[in-house]
Amino acid sequence: MQIRTAGEGDFAGIRAVLNAAFGQAGEAAIVEALRADDADSLELVADHHGQIIGTVMFSPASVHLPGHRILRGLGLGPVAVAPDHQGKGIGSALIEAGLEHFKPYPVAFFCVLGEPEYYTRFGFSPAIERGWTWEADDGSIPEMRQAFQIIVPRDIPAGEGTVCYHPAFGN
Ligand SMILES: CC(C)(COP(=O)(O)OP(=O)(O)OC[C@H]1O[C@@H](n2cnc3c(N)ncnc32)[C@H](O)[C@@H]1OP(=O)(O)O)[C@@H](O)C(=O)NCCC(=O)NCCS
Repeated sequence: MQIRTAGEGDFAGIRAVLNAAFGQAGEAAIVEALRADDADSLELVADHHGQIIGTVMFSPASVHLPGHRILRGLGLGPVAVAPDHQGKGIGSALIEAGLEHFKPYPVAFFCVLGEPEYYTRFGFSPAIERGWTWEADDGSIPEMRQAFQIIVPRDIPAGEGTVCYHPAFGN
């Protein structure tokens, strides 16, 4: 199994993995909208003898801080592994390779919406702990507060912040 950058020839395989893993077509539509808008900052695949068995996307995100200050970061997701191949470390390998890829770059933060139990292992922690919330979260679902997680590699003081994903996630 090889983790590598996705190319055009992988797009059908990526769609198949996303649809199978999520059981719906919404995530593949997001990925395709991100590509169409040149907002596919990094798209990796897990290639098993030419078959796509996993995928992860990173796309631009921003955090709006007091004083009209905006910092640029990256949204992680969707990430998916074909159901037959889950639980073998492939999702972890994709996420770790993505985070590693961006190490040389001045990324202010990474964000993800998902199970804290899973994402903690990569260094994510609930964004609310430093005062940041996701713009689409109105606070009505307490679990969502914990599910919206960030990694902040640089020294940014904690305080209020609103995080926005690329508009493709809103469609
Ligand atoms: C989430 C997903 C990408 C993980 O990939 P994977 O290759 O199966 O995961 P790994 O083998 O790297 O890691 C397995 C570990 O993750 C845990 N895990 C997997 N999915 C989890 C979830 N939704 N919640 C909590 N833990 C989860 C497993 O229990 C296992 O834990 P362990 O290492 O303590 O035994 C994959 O299960 C998947 O495609 N799920 C459906 C789509 C999805 O929910 N994507 C994430 C939301 S964007």
